[in-house]
Amino acid sequence: MKQVILSRLKRGGTVSGETLAAELGVSRTAVWKCVKKLRLEGYRISSSSRSGYSLTGLPDRLVADEIRAGLETRVLGRTVVTCETLPSTQDQAKKLALQGGDEGTLIVAETQTGGRGRLGRSWASPPGGLYFSVILRPRIDVIEATRIPLVAGVALLRAIEGHTPLIPRLKWPNDVLVNERKAAGILAEMSAEVDRLDWIVLGFGINVNTLPSQFPADIRDRAVSLTTGSGSAVSRLKLLQDSLRELEQALDEFRTAGFEPFRQQWKNRSCTLEQRVMVAGERGPLEGRAVDIDSDGALVVECDDGSRRRIITGDVALIRNA
Ligand code: BTN
Repeated sequence: MKQVILSRLKRGGTVSGETLAAELGVSRTAVWKCVKKLRLEGYRISSSSRSGYSLTGLPDRLVADEIRAGLETRVLGRTVVTCETLPSTQDQAKKLALQGGDEGTLIVAETQTGGRGRLGRSWASPPGGLYFSVILRPRIDVIEATRIPLVAGVALLRAIEGHTPLIPRLKWPNDVLVNERKAAGILAEMSAEVDRLDWIVLGFGINVNTLPSQFPADIRDRAVSLTTGSGSAVSRLKLLQDSLRELEQALDEFRTAGFEPFRQQWKNRSCTLEQRVMVAGERGPLEGRAVDIDSDGALVVECDDGSRRRIITGDVALIRNA
């Protein structure tokens, strides 16, 4: 009944409790109770005893029905799970993936208490940000999976570019920087056998409407939200829907056209290439100039002795003014 009332109000205008009650064959009290529930979910519904109810605003909370309603995807977001708070959407998605959860299953949380970043770091997840993980089951060779995080980075950038006048940049492998500060990150985790990829879970953390004071003090000077960066509020709901659309399109393109187009797009949007970098990698620290992304998505660093090293995993710091 709640959904019927909501879609009626979404058509616009004002509708009386009496009309709704008659249309649904229920009492006016039952209608009023549904309106109360919708308000608790964050829908803004004004009421006047003379004219009735009208919808004046959608929830800022990420409600599963609203996410689904505006999704332009075939697969991603086919199943949506939304939670007020979770330890980590990534852990929840991985748990579901292990239990056979469908491709495209989306887990969204308003806040996380144990948000995880790359390399065992934590990911601050206060209200106002966008935190979601999605299960992928791509039919690709295990060896190709190293490219997926970069493909996802390009997709996320396209979504952000469509929402703000910002010029976001990618820092290898897939950090999104705005004005040289981190605005978003992607965590990619997978399960595979030697010759068979089972699942990949991609986790997106986007500082959308986060206020500077909401970031932990130790990252406050390195983090930024899209709102602060652009000076105008960004709809988390729209950005979530657009990110999923861009991700699905990018994965389709990757399947048909391969990695090369993404390698080029990644390079065009990079703030890492042609910079002096310090890499804290598996084989110890390394300093040099980032010169390329290779066909596997590895970062190619040219050391001062002219030798070139491929970085497959690790933390890359840009050395400014070098
Ligand atoms: C990074 O830049 O280090 C990656 C950050 C990824 C954070 C997201 S938030 C949603 C999902 N759940 C997690 O615990 N982590 C990812």
